[in-house]
Amino acid sequence: MRNFLNGCFVGVLVCFAVLIMLLSSGIWPIRATADPSPTEARLARFSLGRALKHYAAPRPNPVALSEANLLAGLKLFEDNCAGCHGTGGGRSHWGSSNFYPRAPQFGFERPTMPDWQLFAVVKDGIRYTGMGGWDGEMPEDDMWRVVTFLTHLASLPPSVEGKWRLREK
Ligand code: HEC
Repeated sequence: MRNFLNGCFVGVLVCFAVLIMLLSSGIWPIRATADPSPTEARLARFSLGRALKHYAAPRPNPVALSEANLLAGLKLFEDNCAGCHGTGGGRSHWGSSNFYPRAPQFGFERPTMPDWQLFAVVKDGIRYTGMGGWDGEMPEDDMWRVVTFLTHLASLPPSVEGKWRLREK
């Protein structure tokens, strides 16, 4: 048993040393313009999902679902997010080509997370990606308005849908 534990310990040390050597060798790829591999993208999605389950507690959306709030959410999105996430009228070239991982283009791939998880992403951002947190940059009610807009992309009233689809990036 003792030998087995010693073996595990040495194994962990060797893995750690190899990782440090790899990171310090300078061959670790850093270009954001490279295409993310499907395996890497799946792993990143998996760990994001697990992390959100772990730290973001379900909470009610304090913003009422109304046309005024959806329009306000759309405006906030266009002013702050569309540069990377595109609009209903077009993809952001920057967001869909030059970020690693790519910024999802919400006009073409709707977010699937529940609203409280989207809120957690908007508020605190996602580490090691281009998605910064908006904490302290945007009032929480406005973050909820953007989230309300994003969770209703499939059922926007015609007045909001028209503006969303018309606006090109
Ligand atoms: C500078 C570029 C940039 C800006 C500005 C930006 N984002 Fe992001 N966002 C990203 C990137 C890159 C990702 C991908 C992160 C990942 O896959 O882990 C992302 C991911 C997200 C996600 C997670 C989506 C998912 O399904 O994984 C949400 C939600 C989101 N952003 C919302 C917003 C909102 C709302 C705003 C504006 C208030 C915003 N973002 C502004 C770059 C940006």
